Amino acid sequence: MSAPADKPPYLGFGLGLRAPHYGDILDGDPFVDWFEVISENYMVPGGRPLAMLERIRERWPVVMHGVSMSIASTAPLDRDYLADLKRLAERVEPRWISDHLCWTGVHGINLHDLLPIPYTEEALEHVVQRVGEVQDILGRRIALENVSTYVAFAHSEMAEWEFLSELARRADCWLLLDVNNVYVSSFNHGYDPKAFIDGVPADRVIQFHVAGHSDMETHLIDTHDHAVTDEVWQLYRHALGHCGPVSTMIERDDDIPPLGELLGELDVARRLAAPALAAAQ
Ligand SMILES: [Fe+2]
Repeated sequence: MSAPADKPPYLGFGLGLRAPHYGDILDGDPFVDWFEVISENYMVPGGRPLAMLERIRERWPVVMHGVSMSIASTAPLDRDYLADLKRLAERVEPRWISDHLCWTGVHGINLHDLLPIPYTEEALEHVVQRVGEVQDILGRRIALENVSTYVAFAHSEMAEWEFLSELARRADCWLLLDVNNVYVSSFNHGYDPKAFIDGVPADRVIQFHVAGHSDMETHLIDTHDHAVTDEVWQLYRHALGHCGPVSTMIERDDDIPPLGELLGELDVARRLAAPALAAAQ
């Protein structure tokens, strides 16, 4: 099955919306094409975050990115969470909703981490079925993101990119390709990150995440508290070559710098993407 014709629009170059930047964003006119918001931060009715988001969505396209769907868990889907997510989406009208291909807990315990899964046919069937349920509840396709991993399962039957490709095809969902996560996982597991990128179906990728990581010498950790590294920028360029122009976002979650620093990184992304954008016109 090829990708559906109603692929979400290309949005350009965005940032993750973070509370320390609310003032600079609303008082200024930063050169940002769109914002990604962490869904869970805005699911509590009322309060300052939602008021800020209401003002931002009047001026910029917004996409919603969640961390709690736990799509690959064997625990039942959290229907209260999905109802809250749907309610927020009705209010925010995001261009799309994403979460991670991972599990975050089981037996009522939330481990607050994005945990890896074995890439087996059994796991694939399980996730495909759950994505179908979630998409029925939300009434729209979702996008799933590849997470950084630090362990691999001996009984995996396929590569992560093969799992993602089959998932997108069978569940009829989109993919959010985190270029930094590809780089971190490839380093930790010793494979070619370009093979990962080349292995995903370009017509299913609707968003890129680009971020920094921490180098522990023997392994890399996806900390999102550093500037994007040269290696990740090179891989981003490769991803553009494979996918063409894809809405790109700088993802910083810790040690959040002044807005201007992230705008500078966004300028790097714009520069690297210019050839792909020119070729697509
Ligand atoms: Fe990410």
